[in-house]
Amino acid sequence: MNFIEWNEEAKVNHVAMDNEHKQMIDDTNKLYALVTTNKKEKANNLLLKIVEDLKIHFESENNYMLKSKIPQYISHKLEHERFYNKIKDLQIRIASGKETLSVEHLKIVKSWFFNHLDFKDKHLANFLNEKNIK
Ligand SMILES: [Fe+2]
Ligand SMILES: [Fe+2]
Repeated sequence: MNFIEWNEEAKVNHVAMDNEHKQMIDDTNKLYALVTTNKKEKANNLLLKIVEDLKIHFESENNYMLKSKIPQYISHKLEHERFYNKIKDLQIRIASGKETLSVEHLKIVKSWFFNHLDFKDKHLANFLNEKNIK
């Protein structure tokens, strides 16, 4: 069983958004496997990749919001910024050896992801689908 399952609950039913989410879920599952088997260096490298991909993903959603003129742009973008800053800080602390990446960190990421998905991303995906923005 994966740490995060790619199933109906995780899908927003917008192809581009789902593809990016799936990529990050796959990487987070790989990260979980590395953390639970104590492969610290590989885990730290993969965390850096995930943080970089996350930045690109958030920019992509922010651009979709601008393009579609969705009213929730500011609050959704703000959630991206807050979470990105938090995870970037964590990645820096881990890279410097001040902190060790743990399953607890990954659980926080997972719960943030589903919360954000339910309250922000699904709404954006529906809005894009209504406007036929692919
Ligand atoms: Fe997203
Ligand atoms: Fe989002």
